[in-house]
Amino acid sequence: MLIMGERMLILLSLIFSYLLTVDARTAQSDYTALLALKLGWENTPPDWVGSDPCGDDWEGIECSKSRITSISLASMDLSGQLSSDIRLLSELRVLDLSYNNKLTGSLPREIANLKKLTHLLLISCGFTGPLPDTIGNLERLVFLSLNSNSFSGRIPPAIGNLSNVYWLDLAENQLDGPIPISNGTTPGLDMMHHTKHFHFGKNKLSGNIPSQLFSSEMTLIHALFEGNQLTGRIPSTLGLVQSLEVVRFDDNFLSGPLPLNLNNLTNVQSLLLSNNRLSGPLPNLTGMKALNYLDMSNNSFDPSDFPPWLSTLESLTTLMMENTQLQGQIPASLFSLAQLQTVVLKNNQLNGTLDIGATISNKLELLDLQTNFVEEFDLDPQIDVSKVEIILVNNPVCQETGVARTYCSISKSNDSYTTPPNNCVHVACSSDQILSPNCKCAYPYTGTLTFRATSFSETGNETIFANLEFSLMQSFQLYDKPVDSVSLSNPRRGSVQYLDLTLKVFPSGQDHFNRTGISSIAFMLSNQTYKPPKMFGPYYFIGDTYEHFVDDSVLEGPVPSSKSSNVGIIAGAAGGGSALLVLLLLACVYVFRQKKNAKKVSGKNNPFGEQWDPDESNTSIPQLKGARRFTFEEMKNYTRDFSQANNIGSGGYGKVYRGTLPNGQLIAVKRAQKESIQGGMEFKTEIELLSRVHHKNLVSLMGFCFAEGEQMLVYEYVANGTLKDAVSGKSGIRLDWIRRLKIALGAARGLDYLHEHANPPIIHRDIKSTNILLDERLTAKVADFGLSKPYGEKGYITTQVKGTMGYLDPEYYMTQQLTEKSDVYSFGVLMLELITARKPIERGKYIVKVVKNAIDKTKDFCGLKEMLDPTIDLATPLHGFEKFVDLAIQSVEDSSSNRPSMNYVVKEIENMLHLAGANPNAESASTSSSYEVSKGSSLHPYEYFDTSVVLPRA
Ligand SMILES: *[C@@H]1O[C@H](CO)[C@@H](O)[C@H](O)[C@H]1NC(C)=O
Ligand SMILES: *[C@@H]1O[C@H](CO)[C@@H](O)[C@H](O)[C@H]1NC(C)=O
Ligand SMILES: *[C@@H]1O[C@H](CO)[C@@H](O)[C@H](O)[C@H]1NC(C)=O
Repeated sequence: MLIMGERMLILLSLIFSYLLTVDARTAQSDYTALLALKLGWENTPPDWVGSDPCGDDWEGIECSKSRITSISLASMDLSGQLSSDIRLLSELRVLDLSYNNKLTGSLPREIANLKKLTHLLLISCGFTGPLPDTIGNLERLVFLSLNSNSFSGRIPPAIGNLSNVYWLDLAENQLDGPIPISNGTTPGLDMMHHTKHFHFGKNKLSGNIPSQLFSSEMTLIHALFEGNQLTGRIPSTLGLVQSLEVVRFDDNFLSGPLPLNLNNLTNVQSLLLSNNRLSGPLPNLTGMKALNYLDMSNNSFDPSDFPPWLSTLESLTTLMMENTQLQGQIPASLFSLAQLQTVVLKNNQLNGTLDIGATISNKLELLDLQTNFVEEFDLDPQIDVSKVEIILVNNPVCQETGVARTYCSISKSNDSYTTPPNNCVHVACSSDQILSPNCKCAYPYTGTLTFRATSFSETGNETIFANLEFSLMQSFQLYDKPVDSVSLSNPRRGSVQYLDLTLKVFPSGQDHFNRTGISSIAFMLSNQTYKPPKMFGPYYFIGDTYEHFVDDSVLEGPVPSSKSSNVGIIAGAAGGGSALLVLLLLACVYVFRQKKNAKKVSGKNNPFGEQWDPDESNTSIPQLKGARRFTFEEMKNYTRDFSQANNIGSGGYGKVYRGTLPNGQLIAVKRAQKESIQGGMEFKTEIELLSRVHHKNLVSLMGFCFAEGEQMLVYEYVANGTLKDAVSGKSGIRLDWIRRLKIALGAARGLDYLHEHANPPIIHRDIKSTNILLDERLTAKVADFGLSKPYGEKGYITTQVKGTMGYLDPEYYMTQQLTEKSDVYSFGVLMLELITARKPIERGKYIVKVVKNAIDKTKDFCGLKEMLDPTIDLATPLHGFEKFVDLAIQSVEDSSSNRPSMNYVVKEIENMLHLAGANPNAESASTSSSYEVSKGSSLHPYEYFDTSVVLPRA
């Protein structure tokens, strides 16, 4: 019945569209194809009405000119089948239908017509049947993720023709048969020399691993074959693929000895070969210097003494050698490996005395020696093993009667992690909403992040997960996603040692996401735009269905004015009758009531007390001396009714207007938008704070307005705009070297004043180039104290992390302890921006890393010549340049204790200017300081920005 009605509508709209297509932007064939797809699906976005998907910006659809180039509908709860009509969309580049588990049926052969397709993502849907061999015709494909469906049959050999594929994920299906390789007439996977990712885990692949599969021409990073039914030996050709970082052949039926040249794989971090029938001697893996995670459990190796080379693997975090015929004593040297976290040696014949030595890794969490022949446990009383779970159950040492030692029983340790709430006031949420880390009630987008091969094994280390949150937030911000915060919880080791985490992504601005928000966030995770820190290894995400779309387009959306949407209105009216009218009426009532409520609230919570009623102009409240109170009427008059012409800026907090006082003086009025209105008390605190600071390099507060439920701050007007506009050339101001030094000095003095001379001292928290303003004489003035915090004697305050990505101090992020050195970090980034004119994060590159890596004191301009702002004239000497770079790099040291104070920064810049002025021809003395660039420390929160793979934008 429903379908019939739908068909009638489609028919109607087809007729109308035929009559009206003159105006439609979308090519007729693309529209027809999309309509056919829509017919096969339920739960398509409600704005899919009319006949012009491109012109009307249908949700999930992107176009180039009149052609549809991208369909992105992840987590939309679509049900139905993928119709073969998809073949008509011949300009399609991206098809992402991931996380729609009610999308069933087979993948149509006709998919092969999409010659321009680069991304095919059907993760975690309900697809069944064989993979069509025509898939090999998709020559442009770079990204193929069909994992977590129920595809069956063989891997089509034609996939080997996809020579541009970078990411191939067929894991977690029902695929069977052999791994296809080429033989002159048919293609095979061995031809995929550019592919970095082979993800074939958890299928039913059988037969031998062909030795032809691997060669030195391959550039694989991840070879994942875990959880299949493969037999025979691991071929020695595997040792030729030098690029490998993760190798998984665990949970198969492999047999025979391991190839000796595995030892050549010096980049491998995770090697999992457990649960097979491997035999012969244990290979000597001394050469695998990068190895973090080694699991050889449950094989049939020759009985051997504990291999001494294991104690030489400096990076080892995890050693799993359960049931591997190990005998003799464990050398104490194993426990001094500095990174060691987990050692599982159950079910072996280890005997003698357990001696863990005098220096044990402080990261060790688990030592499981169940069912061995350990007779004694010697423990130096100096050694603290309280954090280590030692299990000796079923060893002679535990069989003496009357011994009740902790290590003779298994305690269920439970180190569950949940993102801690930020320092904010908890509120009670309605039963279906969830409290975000920023204490807002909302409907998050949820799902499971699964890491297929982490290089660590602990799950109780908060720093590790805090880093993951940070990198997630950073990517969401970098790609402008409407995300307020993320929370991670319940880390758990799933089957085949995958690490699963529950991810909740909270919306910003409102309490729910719209469809575009969900599908674009899901796409970032489905197509691996988001890259976690390297230690997490390969991952995939499975999003839950999002059930909280509010179809608010009628209430909030722009009034459809284009002629091409006539059809939509006609079709809508035909279906919905006068529903539209009712909705509009409701909307009016809603807005009216909101206004009334807002008035009530603002009346009740007047923090300035009754005598502060705007009608009485009582200006003698002592704390607020220096700041004048303006009425709403005044604000309106001075800004010409907040006219568009006077709007000079906007941001998360609201808008900034230029205004003119009756005496002609210019002012800037910052008007908070409704969502960012803070509590009255905080507003008052901020004003009190601001009215106490007066410095030539700080934008001064002239007054405020707190009336009609609005909050406004009135500042002096600073004529030459932001430093960002000046550096980017937008404001047309030429910044020569001396001017840059002077601007840096001004901003530094302003900050120094806040840190050292304000009482109590103030941390700005949001230093960035858009918050440094330039007056008519290019004097720098620090602005925007919205996030500023006074701090007390402790020297730091623990607080919810806020600030701007790129400028944000990584240490502050990790410890949540804010000190004035966090401002120093941001200032260092600002200094780098001053010389390079680059944004802190640009095209996935983080300025701090880029500069640190490029610095070479033996070259001109410290090796930075290529990246200097081209508008800096290099013909005239840049006095103090090297010192300036030194100072910037010191300021962005990872550890706050290595950063200078703002006071020192001021003196140094004064020095540089002095040098330049006093003796313009003097070369600045070179300093001997060097830069330790910490490589390989994968915990650095900005690590994410060093991955060089940039995938095509959808
Ligand atoms: C392992 O190989 C290294 C060199 O590759 C060698 O120095 C060491 O003696 C070997 N160890 C064993 C136990 O064979
Ligand atoms: C431990 O086992 C090895 C080999 O099985 C044997 O040679 C040795 O004597 C045993 N040591 C002790 C202390 O039992
Ligand atoms: C967590 O991991 C990091 C990096 O491996 C390490 O520096 C830190 O000490 C660990 N914390 C704990 C409590 O083990």
